[in-house]
Amino acid sequence: MKTPALAQQIIWLTGASTGIGEALVHALQARCQHLFITARNVEQLQALAEPYQNVTALAADITDIAQLQQVADHVRARFGRLDTVIANAGTCEYVDVDAFDHRLFERVFNTNVMGLVNTVEVALPLLRNSPRGYLTAVSSSVTYLAMPRAQAYGASKAAMTHFMACMKADLVHQGIDVSVISPGFVKTPLTDQNDFPMPMRISAEDAAKAIIKGLEKRPWDIHFPKRFTRLLKFMGALPTTLRFAITANMSLKKGNKDSSL
Ligand SMILES: NC(=O)c1ccc[n+]([C@@H]2O[C@H](COP(=O)([O-])OP(=O)(O)OC[C@H]3O[C@@H](n4cnc5c(N)ncnc54)[C@H](OP(=O)(O)O)[C@@H]3O)[C@@H](O)[C@H]2O)c1
Repeated sequence: MKTPALAQQIIWLTGASTGIGEALVHALQARCQHLFITARNVEQLQALAEPYQNVTALAADITDIAQLQQVADHVRARFGRLDTVIANAGTCEYVDVDAFDHRLFERVFNTNVMGLVNTVEVALPLLRNSPRGYLTAVSSSVTYLAMPRAQAYGASKAAMTHFMACMKADLVHQGIDVSVISPGFVKTPLTDQNDFPMPMRISAEDAAKAIIKGLEKRPWDIHFPKRFTRLLKFMGALPTTLRFAITANMSLKKGNKDSSL
């Protein structure tokens, strides 16, 4: 079946209050029929939605399935279906192996992995009511190469990508398309905290443009900027000895102790 035009779509975007999500609100609202936006900061969401007639802001923490179910109930009452879900909400914390803390992993996995699972659980029945539903999740290009300090963030994003690949295998039989979105570095409040160089970092507005281009075509992996993501994919495919030599060289711990590979 032909991919429905964005103009006819009812879309739910999570993590819409800042960063990539915020840029997507402005870029998507003009192209779709109705956009539901969620995050925890409801004041920020309402300010974003205010100028637009076809944007509805609802507060929902993705780690709380009851709050997400309320969003789904609201969507069902108004439109009876969802055509596209963009599970964008997420968090990032980097690990210091000298101050290893399982609670950091719990926070990151609970938001990124369980938050996605929760979102999918409440959204699936509504996607099944669409002529051709589309489930997408914002993972990361970090999944192409296991980098230092990304034990929690990178592993959570790898889990998300694997989860989505499994969903694709099952949902293809129900006429629902599935994609992951794998950005490189994008300038947002999340990356503003980073204390390391971020090569080829792009603006949130350019990220939103690349995502919308992808939403119109529905490839398995919507990745950008291509120069950066192709380089990471290439490094990720190198023989292990070479690959680990490169990533060990990126580690802040290098030179601390005997780091023989
Ligand atoms: N920026 C990058 O370079 C980059 C690269 C690759 C992937 N990504 C991914 O892109 C997505 C968006 O990130 P961003 O860079 O735009 O960061 P951001 O500006 O920090 O945005 C994160 C969004 O997620 C929401 N959020 C976080 N925890 C939530 C929760 N428990 N429940 C509901 N909403 C929650 C935040 O809203 P509230 O705080 O209001 O809830 C916010 O709207 C994330 O999944 C991130 O991992 C970003």
